[in-house]
Amino acid sequence: MMKESNKAMIYPRAQRADIPAMAEIRAGDWGTPEYWRERILQYMTHQLHPREALRPRVSYVAVERKRVAGLIAGHLTRRFGCDGELEWISVRPEHRGQGVASELLRRLAKWFVQRDALYICVDVEPSNEVARRFYARHGAEDLKPHWMIWKDIRRALRPPPHPRAERAPEKQ
Ligand SMILES: CC(C)(COP(=O)(O)OP(=O)(O)OC[C@H]1O[C@@H](n2cnc3c(N)ncnc32)[C@H](O)[C@@H]1OP(=O)(O)O)[C@@H](O)C(=O)NCCC(=O)NCCS
Repeated sequence: MMKESNKAMIYPRAQRADIPAMAEIRAGDWGTPEYWRERILQYMTHQLHPREALRPRVSYVAVERKRVAGLIAGHLTRRFGCDGELEWISVRPEHRGQGVASELLRRLAKWFVQRDALYICVDVEPSNEVARRFYARHGAEDLKPHWMIWKDIRRALRPPPHPRAERAPEKQ
């Protein structure tokens, strides 16, 4: 059953004003808030170009009562012959296991599909079992030790095959 709190979550495009909170969330797992503030700002303003990245890119945040609970970012690319790359996804620990990352992934997947980008890669530590399981449940496969791949990102648009993962119907 979906937790009550998750119903109040909205998933807008990230704004510059969201960067400090996004940086704080990323720094909860790696690096410092200062490092991530700089890196996210540069990414969003096209001053940072991940390897073989193309210019089109997007970031979404999950927001509950004006507080950022999670983020996702991705861009079109030519890396490994992929059409797109998932750059970052992170959810605050207290909001994990409620489907927030699944909804963020659906937003990014839709953005890719609208650009005919279906073959999507993601760099993920071999030791990051939680993230690997998350990506696999949403249709990604192993590509090589650090990388997973969606051969068709439309698989991430389907509800995940998990009994706990009930989602509210989406408004058209
Ligand atoms: C990986 C990460 C983004 C997943 O975020 P999340 O919001 O917890 O993901 P979800 O809730 O969508 O799915 C995770 C689990 O919750 C379950 N779940 C999904 N929707 C649910 C719902 N509505 N109610 C209850 N549980 C739900 C899923 O089935 C899944 O279960 P599992 O533990 O068996 O895999 C998060 O763990 C994170 O931020 N990790 C640190 C950063 C990181 O590693 N990023 C990836 C680097 S490449």
